[in-house]
Amino acid sequence: MSYRDLREWLERIEGMGELKRLNGAHWDQEIGAITDLARRRPRAPALLFDEIKDYPRGFRVLTNSLYSLSRVAVTARLPLGLSKIQYVDVWREKHISMKPIPPLWVEDGPVTENILKGNEIDLLKFPAPKWHSKDGGRYIGTGSITITRDPDGDWVNFGVYRTMVLDRNHLICYISPGKDGRIHRAKYFEKGKPCPMVISVGHDPLLFLAGSQAIPYGQSEYGWAGGMRGKAIEIVPGEFTGLPIPAHAEIAIEGEVLPDKTAPEGPFGEWTGYYASSVREENLFQVKAIYHRNDPIILGNPPGRPPYAVGTMATCFARAGQIKAELQKAGVPDVVGVWSHEVGGHRLLTVVSIRQRYPGHARQAALIASFCRAGAYLGRYVIVVDDDIDVADLNDVMWAVCTRSDPASSIEIIRRCWSGPLDPAIPTERKGLNSRAIIDACRPYEWRSEFPDVVDVEEKLKKEVNEKWGGLFSS
Ligand SMILES: Cc1cc2nc3c(=O)[nH]c(=O)nc-3n(C[C@H](O)[C@H](O)[C@H](O)COP(=O)(O)O)c2cc1C
Repeated sequence: MSYRDLREWLERIEGMGELKRLNGAHWDQEIGAITDLARRRPRAPALLFDEIKDYPRGFRVLTNSLYSLSRVAVTARLPLGLSKIQYVDVWREKHISMKPIPPLWVEDGPVTENILKGNEIDLLKFPAPKWHSKDGGRYIGTGSITITRDPDGDWVNFGVYRTMVLDRNHLICYISPGKDGRIHRAKYFEKGKPCPMVISVGHDPLLFLAGSQAIPYGQSEYGWAGGMRGKAIEIVPGEFTGLPIPAHAEIAIEGEVLPDKTAPEGPFGEWTGYYASSVREENLFQVKAIYHRNDPIILGNPPGRPPYAVGTMATCFARAGQIKAELQKAGVPDVVGVWSHEVGGHRLLTVVSIRQRYPGHARQAALIASFCRAGAYLGRYVIVVDDDIDVADLNDVMWAVCTRSDPASSIEIIRRCWSGPLDPAIPTERKGLNSRAIIDACRPYEWRSEFPDVVDVEEKLKKEVNEKWGGLFSS
């Protein structure tokens, strides 16, 4: 069964036994703490907070929405019940074969139930959490999408970029160098103009998924989300900017980013597990209108320390699926598995397994996985292994690194690569560029047939032993 918006998504998830309702938590760190601790438990449910301290009943916050494979599957319209590695493939196949469906303009939608303008504008009306103790403020946008239009054309982009509340009518949206929204913003600033922007801070988690994907420059996430859903996303025009606002959004904030006014943003506990971007001056977002449904819901996806980092399983298998698709598109044969590890916040550690076909095959796979669109930003390590290694099992992977690689000949360092202020290993004055290590942990191609045999219990013997000992050793 499909669903239409966040409200129907919640009904669906509750029916699956994957939603927990919590009343009475405080927006100041308590929602963040519960969210963080809940992720560390197996089968973490989605959490819907209501009756939040200082706020009327109905003004809610949803967290951990995509913190299970089944919830991601429902959201991306994928089959239920697969393993995470199987999801890499079904995601990749859908991502490649899916045809984008452009969004559909409609006259109005639930998001226009309340429209606040002029003196009515008050961002503090919404229970934006302060997620972690050292965060520089209350972040209303962590599962949000920031919508901009290319001033040189019609292309509308949206991306997930964190957004901090400054006061009643000012926000700050942090966009890393190189991201599409930042390029749009720079183009307006170069013309001496403010950048029109809409930030939706509550919506169908599918829009969050779309906004966190590395969709190629020039293509709209709206089309991608429509294609994944099999139906156009309905949009309404913002009164001041004309930008397309999801008609079923819970809360959308419309305004413009000013080229000549800044304020400090951060620090913010990020997906690397650190407050690495510290405090910087960022351009101010001046609010012109707030649109919201009755009893609105903020969609929160606060980061945290890996492996509980990004608040969504999907970013791991979506990134892995996209890297696999891009390897294949680049003509690398026999790529068997790809996994972007949770412990690296789905960016810093990617493992690729191949069935080696020719000398240099492993290096080719490693370099392309490091620098393709989905793998380029803030990567660190790419490890290539043979296809007998389970790419998602860190013990298996590190066993291959320890036993099949020889550091002097198996590791390459590439310098001056795309990083950003969030990189904890780079000092402030050098932020922006980092290096990459690729580790070839395959059996060396030229003498692989003489490589020592693996110690293991053969399948036939395993079966015999299990039969004889009453299944004592079966998993
Ligand atoms: C939970 C979450 C939070 C994110 N926060 C930010 C952020 O604050 N700033 C940023 O530039 N990218 C952030 N990202 C990454 C971007 O959303 C991602 O790179 C996306 O592809 C950007 O869209 P774009 O390619 O259209 O620029 C975040 C991703 C996730 C999953």
